[in-house]
Amino acid sequence: MKNIDRESLEKAYQLFESNDIDQMAIGTTNGLMQIHRYLFDGLYDFAGQIRKLNISKGGFRFATALYLPEILVKIEQMPETTFEEIIAKYVEMNIAHPFMEGNGRSMRIWLDQILKNRLQKVVNWQFVDKIGHLQAMERSPINDLELRTLLKDNLTSDVNNREIIFKGIEQSYYYEGYKKEDDSSFYGDGQGL
Ligand SMILES: Nc1ncnc2c1ncn2[C@@H]1O[C@H](COP(=O)(O)OP(=O)(O)OP(=O)(O)O)[C@@H](O)[C@H]1O
Ligand SMILES: [Mg+2]
Repeated sequence: MKNIDRESLEKAYQLFESNDIDQMAIGTTNGLMQIHRYLFDGLYDFAGQIRKLNISKGGFRFATALYLPEILVKIEQMPETTFEEIIAKYVEMNIAHPFMEGNGRSMRIWLDQILKNRLQKVVNWQFVDKIGHLQAMERSPINDLELRTLLKDNLTSDVNNREIIFKGIEQSYYYEGYKKEDDSSFYGDGQGL
């Protein structure tokens, strides 16, 4: 794990230890920007800022930077009442991939805030396998069934359990680093096109 990732992991712990997470807007673009800024403040100069460059990963090109402002308005207006709606919204936000780097980590926290608020549940990420997760995410722009199944099987009602939260954060940071073993992802990772 790189130094930036280690320091960001500390900030992620602090986000929950301090209960600062409860100050962040839920299910909105602003809320996601707040989370991203918190995790990467002082580490990336683009912390909390919407990207101006196009990026791709694993051969998938995320939303065109030029249209991001209007796309993000549409996404935050998407309904989030049912589990299916929440995942559909999360998938669209992932396709938008609004930041140069750190989208996965900030978005998993953003997703959990919506699930907690609407369904009194969160994902127990520690049991969500790294490779299975990446495959489901890669598939999700075409069909989100795999992702829905994976996450539904790993929901927990124990939403305030610190151990679940912290192990989940560690797992989320462990997903990062996959690119170190995977050249195709590495070259597409936050480097623009
Ligand atoms: N080919 C792809 N198509 C769609 N989504 C993808 C693809 N590859 C990765 N993702 C999603 O994007 C996330 C990675 O985005 P990004 O590198 O900006 O976030 P990160 O927080 O730095 O990384 P990570 O999520 O790996 O910790 C992955 O966690 C996954 O959810
Ligand atoms: Mg990354």
